[in-house]
Amino acid sequence: MSLNNLLEKKPWIGWAVFLGSLTAVFLLGLLAASIMERRSEALIAFAPKVQIKSLDPRNSKWGENYPREYNSFLLTQEGNFKSKYNGNGVVDMLEQAPAMVILWGGYGFSKDYNQPRGHFYAVEDIRKTLRTGAPKSENEGSQPNTCWTCKSPDVLHLMKQMGIENFYQGKWASAGPSIKNPIGCSDCHDPKNLNLTITRPALVEAFARQGVDINKATHQEKRSLVCAQCHVEYYFKGSDPKKPGTNLTFPWDQGTTVDNIEKYYDALEFSDWTHSLSKAPMLKAQHPDYEMWKMGIHAKRGVSCADCHMPYVAEGGIKYTSHHIQSPLNNINQSCQVCHRESEEVLKNNVYDNQTKVTEIRERVEQALVRTHVEAKIAWEKGASEEEMQPILKLIRQSQWRWDFAAAGHGNSAHAPLESVRMLGHALEKAGEARLLLANVLNKHGVAWPIDMPDLSTKEKAMAYVGIDLPKLKGEKEEFIKSILPTWDQKYNEFEKSLD
Ligand code: HEC
Ligand code: HEC
Ligand code: HEC
Ligand code: HEC
Repeated sequence: MSLNNLLEKKPWIGWAVFLGSLTAVFLLGLLAASIMERRSEALIAFAPKVQIKSLDPRNSKWGENYPREYNSFLLTQEGNFKSKYNGNGVVDMLEQAPAMVILWGGYGFSKDYNQPRGHFYAVEDIRKTLRTGAPKSENEGSQPNTCWTCKSPDVLHLMKQMGIENFYQGKWASAGPSIKNPIGCSDCHDPKNLNLTITRPALVEAFARQGVDINKATHQEKRSLVCAQCHVEYYFKGSDPKKPGTNLTFPWDQGTTVDNIEKYYDALEFSDWTHSLSKAPMLKAQHPDYEMWKMGIHAKRGVSCADCHMPYVAEGGIKYTSHHIQSPLNNINQSCQVCHRESEEVLKNNVYDNQTKVTEIRERVEQALVRTHVEAKIAWEKGASEEEMQPILKLIRQSQWRWDFAAAGHGNSAHAPLESVRMLGHALEKAGEARLLLANVLNKHGVAWPIDMPDLSTKEKAMAYVGIDLPKLKGEKEEFIKSILPTWDQKYNEFEKSLD
């Protein structure tokens, strides 16, 4: 029987087909809506078991209500993944690139600098790093409490209790006994409704200074802004605009590019430190992941940090947001392939190609900058004047700022490869100009150029050259950890009882 015959004999079949497709379209619509509402689905899937008070810093407590998100957060403990340039293990960057010891001569980073790893370790790692030193009591030491700001949700109750500025002003060891939980739930969520929320004052203030109320950001913007609370360039502002103080501040008032931020610092004549070899007034770039992400194609197409670093995953029919924040290359399937059809191999190699090209230029800049610092040191020793050195020191500052901005964000060459090479290109040019001027000055003071370079090929040799006594620093730190940490933990445990 043909279809026409069938329809003549049984006209209701036509209607059935029509209604059938209508229902199918409706169901597809429902499916689409349910995909959009994965968040609420995940939320409705289990009613809260415990009441969580505002600012409760205990991730495990939140975990009682949201076990999937909590368990995936716990996976940031893993330490077994390595990509070509990054990974979640402990990697001593100074050993890998001893040039950095010279570039940061006279600054904390030349003592100790590891690759970032999972959020789970944030508190442990700041306690351990040689950069925070070994204060003998709670009111000693060189670092302020500001350092804790992007390590733990415990800073939120401290800020509330002490006032934000007072919190920042304390010595780093003073807040030690009150901070134990690594980066967690209350850093990004309001416990009442689980909405994404910006908790760090510095980000709110940076937007407010540009007349923007960050709370009015769209949901998709917030999926990046929660990360921008910490993964940004910042400095510690003080009463003397030229020197670091303690108030955590994002230098974005003139824009967020490397050039705009430099303008901001130049206008204040600010420097983070004076280089111990070249005497240049230096800027240290922190980790401008957010600023650099904004320059890349993904941000321009509206792809957020969470889209790649916190993909949706399914478990027993329930979809939820993975809180295993890590290199997306460890999870290309759930992260990149939601949008891209290419194979894992192709996507991974796209990232590696970009990273390799950026690294090629980055290493050349490092070698050029090492030479400028050493040559400038010799020029000073041979009696060069302030006037002769001034333009050279400015070029060194400008070159290294661009190098650091590109190098300090470990995702930069993946997030914005073109902007990374652009900055490094300028850095290379400025280091070259500095060396031309240095050749002149050195010649004038009777030194043949190029000079014989010292052997700076290992971390130990580079440290000896800038006068760092590593065994001594390590010994003091071990002593600190043995003698002070148990007291901190004991005090925290007492405080913890007051939370319920
Ligand atoms: C760095 C910021 C950040 C931290 C820290 C964080 N979350 Fe989230 N969380 C997010 C983002 C982003 C989403 C996706 C929200 C969206 O798009 O609506 C999310 C979603 C959620 C949701 C909604 C359901 C889902 O899975 O999509 C729950 C529940 C949740 N998080 C619980 C937690 C818990 C529990 C912790 C602590 C262990 C935590 N979060 C820590 C950023 C964070
Ligand atoms: C409260 C501050 C804070 C927030 C908020 C935050 N981070 Fe982090 N993040 C850190 C710190 C600190 C580290 C380094 C921890 C360590 O090495 O001990 C880190 C490490 C990382 C790493 C390296 C992990 C690895 O395995 O190598 C990634 C990736 C990352 N963060 C992405 C994000 C993303 C994406 C967001 C937003 C969804 C975010 N972070 C929100 C502070 C923060
Ligand atoms: C939410 C969707 C989404 C996710 C997730 C995503 N991408 Fe993309 N990607 C895009 C869009 C959109 C573009 C721009 C393409 C265009 O407009 O032609 C793009 C572009 C690219 C390009 C071309 C870049 C260029 O410079 O032209 C590469 C390579 C790429 N993505 C790799 C990745 C990798 C690797 C991941 C995972 C780590 C990833 N993407 C995750 C949406 C996404
Ligand atoms: C298109 C996907 C994509 C987006 C969007 C994205 N990232 Fe990444 N991110 C990557 C890739 C790919 C890497 C390189 C990982 C590697 O080399 O193993 C990376 C690396 C990183 C790293 C260094 C990780 C490590 O292991 O040391 C951090 C930190 C980071 N991203 C944070 C962010 C933040 C913060 C945002 C938003 C402001 C963001 N990312 C947006 C794909 C993305």
